[in-house]
Amino acid sequence: MADIFDLTIIGSGPGGYVAAIRAAQLGMKVAVVEKWPTLGGTCLNIGCIPSKALLHASELFEEAGHSFKALGIDIPAPVLNLPQMMNHRIETVAANVGGVDYLFKKNKITVFRGTGTIAAPGKVLVTPQSGSAQTVETKNIVIATGSVSANLPGIEIDEKQIVSSTGALTLDKVPNRLLVIGAGVIGLELGSVWARLGAKVTVVEYLDRILPGMDSEVARQFQRMLQKQGMDFKLSSKVAGIDKQDDGSLKVRVEPAKGGDMEILDADVALVAIGRKPYTEGLGLDIVGVALDERGRVRVDGHYKSSVDGIYAIGDVIAGPMLAHKAEDEGIAVAEILSGQAGHVNYAAIPAVVYTNPEIASVGKTEDELKADGVEYKIGKFPFTANGRAKAMLATQGFVKILSDVNTDRVLGAHIVGKNAGEMIHELVVLMEFSGSSEDLARSTHAHPTLSEAVREAALSLGDGAIHI
Ligand code: FAD
Ligand code: NAI
Repeated sequence: MADIFDLTIIGSGPGGYVAAIRAAQLGMKVAVVEKWPTLGGTCLNIGCIPSKALLHASELFEEAGHSFKALGIDIPAPVLNLPQMMNHRIETVAANVGGVDYLFKKNKITVFRGTGTIAAPGKVLVTPQSGSAQTVETKNIVIATGSVSANLPGIEIDEKQIVSSTGALTLDKVPNRLLVIGAGVIGLELGSVWARLGAKVTVVEYLDRILPGMDSEVARQFQRMLQKQGMDFKLSSKVAGIDKQDDGSLKVRVEPAKGGDMEILDADVALVAIGRKPYTEGLGLDIVGVALDERGRVRVDGHYKSSVDGIYAIGDVIAGPMLAHKAEDEGIAVAEILSGQAGHVNYAAIPAVVYTNPEIASVGKTEDELKADGVEYKIGKFPFTANGRAKAMLATQGFVKILSDVNTDRVLGAHIVGKNAGEMIHELVVLMEFSGSSEDLARSTHAHPTLSEAVREAALSLGDGAIHI
């Protein structure tokens, strides 16, 4: 008689692999079905991790070329060794996916290689690339199949010249002209990588602003910073088509979003970064009756249960921000729920970080959202130009902005533009988890000299005033 698992998870991204580990820790017998050769999903293989390897390397390349002199480090102009930079990316990915292998063995999680299809509640059919299919018997199923890049109609991604994020991570030479479609997180992060390595980057964005969803003041100021770094923006514009030329270049047809005269932009590579869509292909959801919402995401209740008993879903394939840490936290929550605990994710305090230079980090409400909700709020702001450590690091760009309730002083949102913003945001996440006030933060001692003192100063400015401005 074949083993019966307590839980079978389809997909080994941050949602799936974290759910598997927590479920095993809680005593369940766990299986994971993965169709890719390596574990870790989009994030570890073609997303968060490889992009951060290139962002780090290209940032140092840029600094060596531009900032070292002012710090008294005279070196010849740095020379790009792109194959080695790509090796760094490959080795970083290998170390991370290998880490998931190790954790699975440690937690006695069984991996089935192949595409998982839900044959019925309690039955997952696994079809490997070669060899025969097998059925995994299980008490519960978690769908953690993630998302894939969205595409523009009529534009064919070849991953060489017209690329998604996946191709943009593996270009074998720096394009002279990179055209990015979409001023979202992927467009700005990967656009930054190639701009630092020498490409002329133009970003075409449908809306009249970059980074929709982020605080609009942050987005406006950040756009100026990117423009100073040499990036061009064509806002309120859409790409109508891309024509490949005989000389290997691209002619990109760009139109005003509202319609009007077409303009042709020349490029060597075009990156399509207009969002991602949930991935449910091949799962057989229509046959078992798992309902999807209007955007193709698996519809779940507050306990991540789909419309069918015994079938759950987490991560990019359900509603909410498409972020690795959101998927991970849902993984922990669903494992806890399935073992009888009260698993929970606080969606009001999920940080978001854009890993550019400077970084952008935010948590909670934006000023735009508070205005729209009619909430009475006050703003505490502090610039890094007035922070001692930032001056020593030549990292004075940006500011901290904290939004708190006028009546209760409870912190409702926080937004940081600045070096290491992605590390600094977490004291605000914890503060918000504890429903803290700006006074709580302002009364907490911060080590000197640190960039985080700017966070405290922003909180102080919501009370009797910041000290250093
Ligand atoms: P995924 O990571 O997409 O994993 C799904 C897995 O399911 C895949 O391994 C897939 O092969 C497998 N699968 C699918 N269908 C089947 C099937 N039928 N049978 C078997 N296996 C199947 N987020 C951040 O928070 N921070 C970042 O810095 C960040 N950077 C990113 C950079 C890029 C370029 C991209 C593209 C994304 C980035 N993201 C980032 C988003 C992040 O990668 C996703 O939010 C996260 O991976 C979602 O996790 P998941 O577990 O839901 O799904
Ligand atoms: P996105 O949703 O962040 O941005 C897409 C952008 O493209 C938007 O500004 C949108 O207005 C624009 N757009 C849409 N259609 C367009 C069109 N036809 N022409 C021009 N512009 C158009 O999506 P993106 O950048 O592709 O990233 C996908 C997901 O991956 C995001 O949801 C993000 O959460 C996640 N991600 C997270 C990262 C991080 O946390 N640092 C890094 C990279 C990705």
